[in-house]
This record gives sequence, structure tokens and C-alpha cells, in this order.
Amino acid sequence: MSASWSEGEVSDLGYTARLCHQLSPTHIQFVAALSGITAPVPESPFHYCELGCGNGSILLLMAANFPHGRFVGIEDNPVQVARARELAQRAGLNNVVFLDNALTELDDVAAEPFDFIVLHGLWTRVGEAERAAVIGFLRRALRVGGISFVSYNAYPGKAAMAHAVRVLRELTPTGAQGGQRARIGRMLLQHLQDNPTGPDTAIPGFADAVKSILALNDGRIAHEYINAPWSAVYFTEVAASLNEAKLGFLNTTILPLMFNDSVIPAAYREVFLSLPEPGQRQLLRDLLMNTSHRRDLFIKGATPILPLDMAALRETVYVARAPLVESFAAECVLPIGSVNLPAGAEKLFARVREHTLSLAEILSGTQDEPSTTFAALRWLLLSDQVAPFRSPEASQAAAGITRLNRLALDMAVSIGEGSWLATPATGGGIQLSVLETLLAAGTVATDANGAVGFVTERLGELGRGIQLETGQIIEPNDVPVFLNKELPAFIMIKMPELRRLGALPAGHA
Ligand SMILES: C[S@@+](CC[C@H](N)C(=O)[O-])C[C@H]1O[C@@H](n2cnc3c(N)ncnc32)[C@H](O)[C@@H]1O
Repeated sequence: MSASWSEGEVSDLGYTARLCHQLSPTHIQFVAALSGITAPVPESPFHYCELGCGNGSILLLMAANFPHGRFVGIEDNPVQVARARELAQRAGLNNVVFLDNALTELDDVAAEPFDFIVLHGLWTRVGEAERAAVIGFLRRALRVGGISFVSYNAYPGKAAMAHAVRVLRELTPTGAQGGQRARIGRMLLQHLQDNPTGPDTAIPGFADAVKSILALNDGRIAHEYINAPWSAVYFTEVAASLNEAKLGFLNTTILPLMFNDSVIPAAYREVFLSLPEPGQRQLLRDLLMNTSHRRDLFIKGATPILPLDMAALRETVYVARAPLVESFAAECVLPIGSVNLPAGAEKLFARVREHTLSLAEILSGTQDEPSTTFAALRWLLLSDQVAPFRSPEASQAAAGITRLNRLALDMAVSIGEGSWLATPATGGGIQLSVLETLLAAGTVATDANGAVGFVTERLGELGRGIQLETGQIIEPNDVPVFLNKELPAFIMIKMPELRRLGALPAGHA
């Protein structure tokens, strides 16, 4: 078992989920389809595993979104496992299980092969023995044709941070508790910040890395950088490890980076194309973009999509306006620089603004040549204005989703945090701010008229005010005044979006 959860003063520090919609089978299949590779179909039964699932939020919302899928979460922190299990049980989700196994204890997990095995924020937070265990598990438990998602701290972009972390890990007393080491490390980093000499001038980005560490409290510094392993790796190292489990690189899941021509400047195209190996090309991309974090898909046995299967696939792959995008932007900034989108992009954006369309519908509903329409779609994806969606039928809030989202809101209100909500329309979820969480909880529990009264009463019961990034609202009389001021914009803009995404039932106040 890793020491990360149990040491000293940070042992009860729950890992705050950063929702990653790219873990959704819908997103994964979409990336594979655009890369010309066959992937497990998210609307048929599938088996999905997350290693290092933290508090389980991603698995919970996916279990609600995909009742026909079966989900397994592996996590060695029993506090996180207990919370995840309780929420699953209270939401009535019986298609997800959470196991309190360490990565080095995976031998007894599921004989049945998985279609997806995902690791988000894990690979560069564990040691060599755990990585070897993950490779063994991928070798044994991912089916042929199955896909693995791996996210990790990457070089060269994390180089300056790696130097700063080394100060924390190697210039503080290794026998001491994490909190004490964080305090000593903070003093050292503070000294380096106040007296900029060697590393600051010699290592680009070092000062920024130090500043970002000093912005955290000691508990957080210990949790992030001292108690558990922290590292950064080159793409080629990850690819070589996964190759031992017979997995090959498929593509990045970050849509704006999916196509090489939006990443490689003209001056580098020739040298880029001269590199024979996909891994070499990814390495050059990372050097050109100074990549600091990657989210990659690897597949066990890539099968190209056959032309005769293409028509059926176009019927089942859907897109719509990306979540939270309100209007069309004609210009987008990509690694190669600022680009003006072609006229067709605005026309296509208008079509998917309020409607989810399959690729087949997109092609058949226009007089334009398919190549023009696909080019427009590509630009909308690259600029994050259009995203993969599920079919309109699959996008409706089912009973399991309504139950889970209510519980998530209630839990977040009780601890004064922002909530996540499952969004069946994308097969993923959405993160709300503290204020949005309060207003959503109030609207769901009553209606738009009763929302402010409900939230005020609930906060009164909890003896709490509203903790915003800009400060606190504590006075009992100030709470309803503030909420009433914010409610109209929430009802006009956010609620319709939450309904479109299926987070709240259609027609809800
Ligand atoms: C950075 S968090 C990511 C959590 C989750 N994947 C997410 O994105 O919300 C890494 C998680 O891996 C877990 N972990 C670390 N080492 C582990 C090990 N050896 N076995 C099982 N879980 C481990 C940690 O407890 C932590 O919850």
C-alpha cells in the first residue's frame, strides 16, 4: 500500500476531483473514430476500470450515464473507497464496484477482460513497482481491441517544476513528517524566490514553478509533492512501457491537439514528416509545444475502420455545441498561432447550436461537398466549439442520474464546495462553482421561486455562509440578497445548459 493516504496531517485530505470528460467512452470512441481506428462501442455493454480512482466521482457519474456498462474502481485509500461506495449505494448504482486494492495487489481483480482501463493523474504519482504492476494488469486484463487512457506530467514542460520538487524532496529531512518537510521546503523555496540567483536565471520557468508551490498551504505541498512519488516523463518513455503490455499509441484525447497540421509550424513540417516512428513525432510535437501534461490513448491491437463500416459508424457518432460555449468565435488560437475559421464553420455551428446531429445527418443536411463539411467540423473541434455527444435518446436524464446529481449537490452544499453533475448528453460530467451548486441545489429541491429560500434555510441549518473565491458572505440577511441578485442569470443561462446536457430533467424549473 502506498504511504500517500495515511501519513501525518494530510491523511484526511480528500482528493478534489478535477473532472476529466475525456475519460468518457463517448469521447474515447470519438477520438478513435476520427483517427480511423475501431474502438469499443459505448452504447453496447462494456466493461470499464479506473486505476487510482480517488473519490470515485468519475466512475459514479459514468455508471449513472451508462447503465449498460460495468465499472470497477481501484483505490488504496480506504477513506476514498468508503465515500465512493456509500454514494454508489445511496444513488442506487449497482453497476459500479470500488475495491480498496493497491496497484501491487491486482492479481485477484476481475478475470473478465476490460474494454477500457483508465489512469488519470496516476502514472507520474506512483513508483516503479506500481508502474510495473499497471503494465502487468494491462497485459492481462485489457482485451484485444481495448483502449487505455493515461494522463501524466510530461517533459519538457514540467522540467522547471521537477527542479523545484527536487528541492522539496531532497533538501528536506527525509525522516521527518510530510508537514514538517513542507515547512522546511517552503523556507528554502521562499529564500530562492527572494534571492533570485542560479536556478532562477539559468532555468526558464523556475521562478513560476516556485511561485505556484508557494501559493499552496503546507498540507497541500506535502500531499502533492512530498508524501507520494512525483515525477515527469517523456512521451517516448510512457509509450515504451505500454508497449511491454502490447499497447500502441492511438492519439491524444485533447481535441485541439488531435491533428498534426494545427500543431506543427510550417518550418518544421518537413523534419516532422521525415520521422518514421509515431513516438518520434510525438516527441517533436512536445518539444515544439513545451508540453507539460499529456492525456493519451493507447490501444491493444489497432484495427483500421473498414470503408464498409464507415456508413454505420457515421450514424452512431454524434456532435453538438460544446458544453458552456455560448456563441460562435471566428478566430481560434492553436499551437501554430491564431487561425480564422472558414465560412462553413459558422454555418455548421448554427446547425449544431441547439441540435445534436450524427455525422451522417451533418453530411446529408447540406448542399456542400462532404470534404468542405468535414473541414468545417474539424475546425470547430480544434477550436473546442463542438464536442462529441451521445444520441438525443441517450442524452435524457434517467432516474439514476437524477438521484446521483441530487446527492452530489446535497453533499457539496453540506461541505461548502462546488459539485460535479453527471451529463448523459456527453457521457461525462460538468463541474459547478460553489454559487452555481447552491442555486442548482435550491432549484432542484423546489423550483426557481423557492430556490433562494431553500438555500438560505439550508445554510442557516448548517450554520454556514457562502464561501466564494472573492470572499465570504456570512451575515444571514446578506445571503438571500446575494442569491436573489445572482439567480436570474443562473436561470436564464446555466439552467438551460444543464438541461441540454441532461444533468437536470427536461422541463425542470
Ligand atoms: C492524483 S489522484 C487521481 C484520482 C482520480 N483518478 C481523479 O482523477 O479524480 C491519484 C489517486 O491514486 C491513488 N493511488 C496512489 N497510489 C496508489 C496505489 N499504489 N494503489 C492504488 N491507488 C493508488 C491515490 O490514493 C489517489 O486517489
